[in-house]
Amino acid sequence: MTTPLLTVDNLKTQFFTEDGTVRAVDGISFDVYPGEIVGLVGESGAGKSVATSSILRLVDSPGEIVDGTITFKEKTLFGLEAGPDGEPRPSEEMLTEEEMRKEVRGREIAIIFQDPMESLNPVFTVGGQLREFIELNRDLPTEEAKQEAIDMLREVGIPDPENRYDEYPHQFSGGMRQRVLIAMAIACRPDLIIADEPTTALDVTVEGQILELVAELQEKYDTAFIWVTHDMSVVAEICDRVNVMYLGEIIEQAHVDDLFYNTKHPYTQALLNSIPRPDETIEELDPIKGVMPEAINPPSGCRFHSRCPEAREVCQRVHPEPRDLSANDRPHNAACVKYDVFDVGYDASPPLETDATGGFSAGLTQTESEAEADGGDR
Ligand SMILES: Nc1ncnc2c1ncn2[C@@H]1O[C@H](COP(=O)(O)OP(=O)(O)O)[C@@H](O)[C@H]1O
Ligand code: SF4
Ligand SMILES: [Mg+2]
Repeated sequence: MTTPLLTVDNLKTQFFTEDGTVRAVDGISFDVYPGEIVGLVGESGAGKSVATSSILRLVDSPGEIVDGTITFKEKTLFGLEAGPDGEPRPSEEMLTEEEMRKEVRGREIAIIFQDPMESLNPVFTVGGQLREFIELNRDLPTEEAKQEAIDMLREVGIPDPENRYDEYPHQFSGGMRQRVLIAMAIACRPDLIIADEPTTALDVTVEGQILELVAELQEKYDTAFIWVTHDMSVVAEICDRVNVMYLGEIIEQAHVDDLFYNTKHPYTQALLNSIPRPDETIEELDPIKGVMPEAINPPSGCRFHSRCPEAREVCQRVHPEPRDLSANDRPHNAACVKYDVFDVGYDASPPLETDATGGFSAGLTQTESEAEADGGDR
C-alpha cells in the first residue's frame, strides 16, 4: 500500500472577526495519494478555499489555523505541540515560513486559482512571466527557461506559442489564460496541484476542454490534484475520490463511483439532484432549498438540518460523526444520524419541518406576499 502524499488531520481554521469567530474549516481530515485527483466539493461558503489555502499556509489575517496537522511527504506543513506554559505552539518539525516559500509553494505544491489574473501580472508578457517563474524555481539559465516556457505553452494547447509568448494576459481569452496557469503549475513538476475552481468562470465547452487537458497532463506527469468545485458534473468528469464539504465539515467521503451510485448523505444527494444527469430529464432538476447558514454560530446538531429533506427532531440535537459505510474494499464514510440508528433513535424521532419540507420556506412565503403586494392575483 502506498503512503499518502498529503494527510490533513482534524484541520481547523478560524477567522476572528468583530462579529465573532468564523469556523470556516472545522475539523476536516482527508488524504491525497500520489497521482490521484481528489475532489473538494460543496456550495459557496463551505470552506473549500480556506481549506486549500490552509494547506499552503496562506490564510490571511484575521484567519488562523488553530488546530490539526498537515503532513506532506513526511514534512510537517502544520503541526502544534504543547509549549512550556501548556499553550499550543508550532511544533518543532513544522516548516518555517521560509521553507514553505522556498521548498513547498510553487515547487512541490502548485495552486491554480479561479481568476487567472490573481496569478498573472497584466503589465508583463505571458511568456516572460512563465520564463521567470521557471528560471527562479528550476534554476535554469534564461535561454533554456525561455525554451521550456514555449514548450510548456505548446503542451497546454496554446497555438503558435513562439509568437504568443510575447503577448500580454489581456490578449488571451479566459480559457487560454487558464491554460497558461496550468503551464505554470506543472512547470516545476510538483507532486500536487491544488486547483481552486479554475473552470468556474469559463463556459461549458471551454471547461470541458480544460478538464480534458488536465486529465491528459495528470496521466503524463502522474501529478496529484486537489480539485475544488461546487459542481458535481465536474466531479464526475475528473475526480477519483471525493470529499463533500458543508459548513466547514466533510460530511461524505467516497470513491467517485460510490458517491454517485451509492450516495449516503442527504446533502450529497441534494447536490446530485441539482445537476443534469444523462439518465434524467432536465425537468427533474431540483435545486437545494434554503441557503447555507453562517459559519459564525453554526446550527446545533447536524449543520444541514435546516435544509435537509430527511431531517428529524434528533438531528437538531445530535452532531453526527463520520461513520464507515463502505460496501466494498473502498473507504466510504458519511456523517448523518440516519446511520447512528441504534445510538440516537433517528427512526423513532418525529420529522422536522425544514426549508426542504416546506416548513419554514421563507423564500417561497416572501415571493407569494411580494406578488400580493404587487396587486397581482396571478
Ligand atoms: N478573510 C475572511 N474573513 C472572515 N471570514 C472569511 C474570510 N475568508 C473566508 N471567510 C469565511 O469562511 C467561510 C468559508 O469560505 P471559503 O473557504 O471561501 O468558502 P468556499 O471556497 O467553499 O466558497 C465562509 O463563511 C467565509 O465567509
Ligand atoms: S443528520 Fe439528519 S439533518 Fe443531517 S443529514 Fe442526516 S438526516 Fe439530514
Ligand atoms: Mg472558494
